[in-house]
Amino acid sequence: MDKIRIRGGRPLKGDIPISGAKNAALPLMAAALLTDQPLTLTRLPDLADIATMGTLLAGHGVEIERVRSEGGQGRVTLTAKQITDTRAPYDVVRKMRASVLVLGPLLARTGTAEVSLPGGCAIGTRPVDLHITGLEALGAKIELKDGYMHARAPNGLVGAHIVFSKVSVGATENLLMAASLARGETVLANAAREPEVADLATCLVAMGAEIDGIGTSTLTIRGRDRLNGTQHAIVPDRIETGTYAMAAAATGGSVHLLGADAQALTAVIDALGPAGVTFTATNRGLKVERANGLHGIDVMTEPYPGFPTDLQAQVMALMTVAEGASLITETIFENRFMHVPELLRMGASITVHGASALVRGVDHLTGAQVMATDLRASVSLVLAGLAASGETTLNRVYHLDRGYEALEQKLAACGADIERVRE
Ligand code: EPZ
Repeated sequence: MDKIRIRGGRPLKGDIPISGAKNAALPLMAAALLTDQPLTLTRLPDLADIATMGTLLAGHGVEIERVRSEGGQGRVTLTAKQITDTRAPYDVVRKMRASVLVLGPLLARTGTAEVSLPGGCAIGTRPVDLHITGLEALGAKIELKDGYMHARAPNGLVGAHIVFSKVSVGATENLLMAASLARGETVLANAAREPEVADLATCLVAMGAEIDGIGTSTLTIRGRDRLNGTQHAIVPDRIETGTYAMAAAATGGSVHLLGADAQALTAVIDALGPAGVTFTATNRGLKVERANGLHGIDVMTEPYPGFPTDLQAQVMALMTVAEGASLITETIFENRFMHVPELLRMGASITVHGASALVRGVDHLTGAQVMATDLRASVSLVLAGLAASGETTLNRVYHLDRGYEALEQKLAACGADIERVRE
């Protein structure tokens, strides 16, 4: 298995192109199941999760034409002329939970779907009850059997008023897609407002659905009998942007994040200002710099527009080398502190109390052999390695490949001493 070797202590300086957002691309690819016409997505990142979604969709009969190119500028054309198989098998779903996003579109298009239950994952139990009850409210019958959700709607789905009991990105996306092919009007209240949800809704509108309230917590969808194909550019990845911003801050550097959308990162920019990190929106993206000291800040993760859980591990790595104490509270997932023991091995001082971690800044971290069990935890160890003195070797690099396009190249281009060791 590949490893990443980092010799830390060099300030990052230079330009980093920001790729299209993984978490927007995955539901957008699933949306291709809603129409028999081609859906073309541009700014497609080259990631393992994108390949997995491709494999899943190909199994349903989707024709896929993919053009790869550097810097997140790839494109894919997905044509679901005919759905040949409505089963999303365990072997794919267990690899990537976002596979569950095919449930709504398959059911809405064909009246039937069998999707494996994803099960727990490294960051929490992550149930899918909101997806199921939402689709049931649209008239689906869903039975849980043999580890699969067996969903049926032989007479098609019918619009309904749904109030989510909890904000869920994936459930909002599944329901948005299903409602776009349902008869009549659907209202989704307490919907997720993440930019990736808005991106999906915008694409569904271009495919012919009528959706009001995009970007708000109440979405009103008037479904159509059929949807058409379109071409859509995926939004820039705000989590990748935030990750490189924190890498620059951790190393006392200065980077220009090309193509980044500062607005999608407002909570992060507001949080990191008092820490001593400067952000400047430019006509090419976002400049991030940390020229002076780094100060401890308190952060609590929340659904958008709050501070994203997908940047919690990275901000913790940053705070390990800040002056003073920081309190980092995770409210979205119950088990998302797996980076803590590894950061401790690098000399950090962190105490976890339930959902909060008290970080006492240390003078410096020292390189070590580390590994993590999920994507964001892994990248937080890369940030720690960049800030640390000495050599850090990160194992289980495949987690990084799921969500960061050309990570070593982007960092090396800014002066980081980082390389992939192939085995
Ligand atoms: C999306 O996951 C992202 N994945 C995650 O990114 C991200 O961490 C998460 O949203 C929160 O922002 C994709 O977009 C592909 P949720 P999702 O449903 O949709 C609970 C990354 O690193 N819940 O918004 O699965 C759930 O357990 C990944 O890129 C239910 O209780 O997240 C969690 O506590 C990891 N029942 C909370 O809601 C449900 O039916 C939010 O989860 C669904 C969710």
